[in-house]
Amino acid sequence: MARFDFSGKVALIAGASRGIGEAIAHGLAEHGATVICTSRKLEACEKVADDIRAKGLKAAAKVLHLGEIETHQAVLDEIKAEHGRLDYLVNNGATNPYMGPAHLAEEWAFDKTFQVNTKGPYFLTSKSIPLMLENGGGAVVNVASIDGINPGMFRVIYGMTKAALVNMTKGFAIEYSQQGVRVNALLPGFTDTKLASALKENPMAQQLIQALPIKRMAQPDEMVGAVMYMLSDEASYYTGQTMVVDGGKTIL
Ligand SMILES: NC(=O)c1ccc[n+]([C@@H]2O[C@H](COP(=O)([O-])OP(=O)(O)OC[C@H]3O[C@@H](n4cnc5c(N)ncnc54)[C@H](OP(=O)(O)O)[C@@H]3O)[C@@H](O)[C@H]2O)c1
Repeated sequence: MARFDFSGKVALIAGASRGIGEAIAHGLAEHGATVICTSRKLEACEKVADDIRAKGLKAAAKVLHLGEIETHQAVLDEIKAEHGRLDYLVNNGATNPYMGPAHLAEEWAFDKTFQVNTKGPYFLTSKSIPLMLENGGGAVVNVASIDGINPGMFRVIYGMTKAALVNMTKGFAIEYSQQGVRVNALLPGFTDTKLASALKENPMAQQLIQALPIKRMAQPDEMVGAVMYMLSDEASYYTGQTMVVDGGKTIL
């Protein structure tokens, strides 16, 4: 426990209203962090924060729309005013409005996916780093996807946004590790959440699952340990990396 002690630290989680982000919020709070749960939906984030506080742990909820970049600074200013510091950022929120043949994708879907999945995390990271540096540094985890290294069928744009996020992770690591901000990425495989529901409902889903070495989808909780490691001081020499948690899919 002491090796993964986040007591006194403040973690901002973008996209914490459900799924993997909710699980990460519980994990970090269980290890002592104050977690700021954010997404587009205040009520859903309040519910997550309430559940965490009901366990005697520390959490707050706020609206943060990753795609509305002009609103990010005000959220960070509130965190500074209310909690005094920011140590960790988890860029977990993402969208995938279009599933289908690449040549039929419309421009609005392309723009929205990049706005939320890539441009939002870029500017939220940019604006968070100065706050982390006020206390000597911190750590960022970008939740990308194995689609960012091996594109999936009918989701080319989504995969492109995640490939950009992987590259962005390495770029920020090169610039900020020396100053004390480590930047890494989690690349989940097929995880049982709302985002994956379109894949899960696909008649091919069982075939996809049986093709995995582990023969099942991940549960959101199974992503938490990797994120905690990457944020913790145990990972003090770990930066610019992509940690794949995919039940063995990418070894095939
Ligand atoms: N599930 C998988 O199989 C899988 C695989 C690889 C990678 N991932 C990645 O894992 C991360 C979490 O996804 P999930 O599977 O847990 O999906 P999920 O349960 O659908 O959760 C998605 C989260 O993103 C938030 N979000 C969506 N649009 C947002 C926006 N514009 N601004 C801020 N937050 C926004 C949602 O919050 P609101 O709707 O409340 O705003 C929600 O909290 C994503 O980055 C996803 O790409 C998932």
